[in-house]
Amino acid sequence: MPFRPRYTGLIDKYRDRLPVHDDTRIISLGEGNTPLIRLNNIPRECGRDIDLYVKYEGLNPTGSFKDRGMTMAVTKAVEDGCKAVICASTGNTSASAAAYAARAGIAAFVLIPEGKIALGKLAQAMIHGAVVLQIRGNFDEGMRLVKEVAQNTPVTIVNSINPFRLQGQKTAAFEIIEELERAPDFHCLPVGNAGNISAHWMGYSEYLEHGIVNNRPRMIGYQASGAAPFLRGAMIDNPDTVATAIRIGHPQSWELAWKVREGSDGWFDECSDEEILAAQKLLTEKEGIFCEPASATSLAGALRDIDSGKIPAGSSVVCTLTGHGLKDPDTAIRQCAGGVISVDAALGPVRDAIVENLA
Ligand code: F0G
Repeated sequence: MPFRPRYTGLIDKYRDRLPVHDDTRIISLGEGNTPLIRLNNIPRECGRDIDLYVKYEGLNPTGSFKDRGMTMAVTKAVEDGCKAVICASTGNTSASAAAYAARAGIAAFVLIPEGKIALGKLAQAMIHGAVVLQIRGNFDEGMRLVKEVAQNTPVTIVNSINPFRLQGQKTAAFEIIEELERAPDFHCLPVGNAGNISAHWMGYSEYLEHGIVNNRPRMIGYQASGAAPFLRGAMIDNPDTVATAIRIGHPQSWELAWKVREGSDGWFDECSDEEILAAQKLLTEKEGIFCEPASATSLAGALRDIDSGKIPAGSSVVCTLTGHGLKDPDTAIRQCAGGVISVDAALGPVRDAIVENLA
């Protein structure tokens, strides 16, 4: 039989490892099953013997890893008879919640920080028909308001404090193990609320406990310098970074993430905005992979730790690229100093421009 069954999303694939029933109505957009791409040019150019992969989560249906958690959270909300979901968001959660709510035929309310969300994400929440509440405050304030309002309003919170979110997100670790036929030595992630790093650890631990593998990675969480409460060891009130997705000072999975660090013998570190943008550009120019700034934090940190030897030569390393680069076109364009070349619509000027720019 030359045909394989149609891929129908991660709940169908990992049904036995997720809290769903045979008759649960699954709300899916075919999320998960994202490529694990081995980097070729970057390791060669930095002269390190390293087996470096990126897990390109930007290729999920709404362009970020949030879809893994959202398929579960919305499926369970619908199963419970809920008619509306709510979240606070730096952008990706709101885009995903809006899309899965649309798919389910229920309402979505999203609270976003005014002026601090990338254009693509705002467009997504709006076009999917979410009620977009732009608050004059940051993500952390939005999160507090969502928790308060959900106490006496018939809405289900679909932020990562919803335990079904992490259940869905743990499947990324399953996929990595299945491709590598073992767990990597190190797994690097950008950290905001720290839900995703905690979910990955759950996934790795589950496959270890069930004897599918006999190793787990050391988990490394990188934060933007202006929003690095884990590194400071305390919450911070005015986070700021170009990586707006992780502009968070009061992480919701604080306790869980410290347990991940201890359990995996991992660490937290920070990357400056300059390092983050440089890693984003390196990945686009050297490997053809476009991720959003926050996502490049994992690679920025990993390259520094590979360079210093903290991640030893010979290691296998996976960096999660959490969101697609098209989410934030403004930041991408701002990074390209040369810009575009305007020419008259005639052969001469076009040919001249090509000749001048041939290496
Ligand atoms: N990368 C991207 C692209 C994100 O959107 C987020 C979180 C993270 C990393 C951090 O993941 O919070 O699990 O540690 N975005 C949330 C949102 C906060 O609202 O979209 P985390």
